[in-house]
Amino acid sequence: MYKTIGILTGGGDAPGLNAVIRAVVTTATGQYGLNVIGIEDGFEGLLGETQTRPLTAADVRGLLPRGGTILGTRNRGKFVERSAEGVDSKPDAVYKEAVENIRRLGIDALVVLGGEGTLAISVEFDRLGVPVVGVPKTIDNDLACTELTFGFITALDIATDALDRLHTTAESHDRVMILEVMGRNTGWIALHSGLAGGADVILIPEIPFTMKSVADRIRARDEAGSNFSIVVAAEGALETGRELIYQDKGDRQHAPRLGGIGSYCQRELETLTGKEARCVVLGHLQRGGRPNAFDRMLATNYGSCAVRALVDGKRGMMVALQAGDVITVPISLAIANVKTVPADGQLVRTARDTGISFGAPDEARYHRQP
Ligand code: F6P
Repeated sequence: MYKTIGILTGGGDAPGLNAVIRAVVTTATGQYGLNVIGIEDGFEGLLGETQTRPLTAADVRGLLPRGGTILGTRNRGKFVERSAEGVDSKPDAVYKEAVENIRRLGIDALVVLGGEGTLAISVEFDRLGVPVVGVPKTIDNDLACTELTFGFITALDIATDALDRLHTTAESHDRVMILEVMGRNTGWIALHSGLAGGADVILIPEIPFTMKSVADRIRARDEAGSNFSIVVAAEGALETGRELIYQDKGDRQHAPRLGGIGSYCQRELETLTGKEARCVVLGHLQRGGRPNAFDRMLATNYGSCAVRALVDGKRGMMVALQAGDVITVPISLAIANVKTVPADGQLVRTARDTGISFGAPDEARYHRQP
């Protein structure tokens, strides 16, 4: 039986991180009499002098609604090195140092809150003899083996609210408004918010688009008397025959950052349709601030279940939501493949049946012709 567990948050922040930390601490200390040590700035806090602090129930009071993470977080850090050719490797010496520090601090096992990158690092710790249970975090909802990652539904609320607001200004000015949302190489935020916010066009990485097809949809709306259009574009949306658009290509310690598809569409659609267009990049507003009620609930359940999983002797596992219940799945399975939007799935079909275009080259065949 463990005496002390460590907890850390890695990768981009997401609403609900603090709610998970609170649940882990209250469950571990209150229910199982364990000590909890918070590790600061992701795995980086395990290097050098180490940055850690004990966490008690008093330390996590009032955390449910608080955005960000009280422990701080880091992307990649020193635990993944990218070569000039873009190949990632895990430097042995760095892991060895971290594991030695874990032993010295008296940490018996880790709860790791993260997305695919952070969980991939955690697998290595498990392999090196430190039991790990992961908690699936990302606003992108792109982790496999779980129906939901915490943070996603809050991001969705924020994107949907933005679409509602863009509707009134688009309609007043007879404009095309383009909302660029996050999601890395998946279209979960764009698809769900596009449906919830009544977008006219949704552009997602899983369904490559042509600018002509998008412009056709905007023109058809004009002809039908709707002189404005709302486009929601995932940052990883891909125009057929073109490259993805990046803000920067990353470096040894930072992953490449997508961004710019919205303003590109704005320019091209103005030319093709002759209409005024504007672009809004929602950016980190999708990640900052309070988690909504659902994410607080999900985060709390994930955190508590993660502690129970460790106490039950599970390791190398991630808590996951399947059919409404939190279960555990091997982390290795969850990170093996990115969970993408099924291009022929029910939500895409529903979107098309309710008049939304994905800008596919053959989009017309999915819509009833006049
Ligand atoms: O993975 C979460 C996410 O917000 C992505 O949607 C986005 O592409 C990326 O992180 C942005 O990263 P950063 O905060 O480093 O700009």
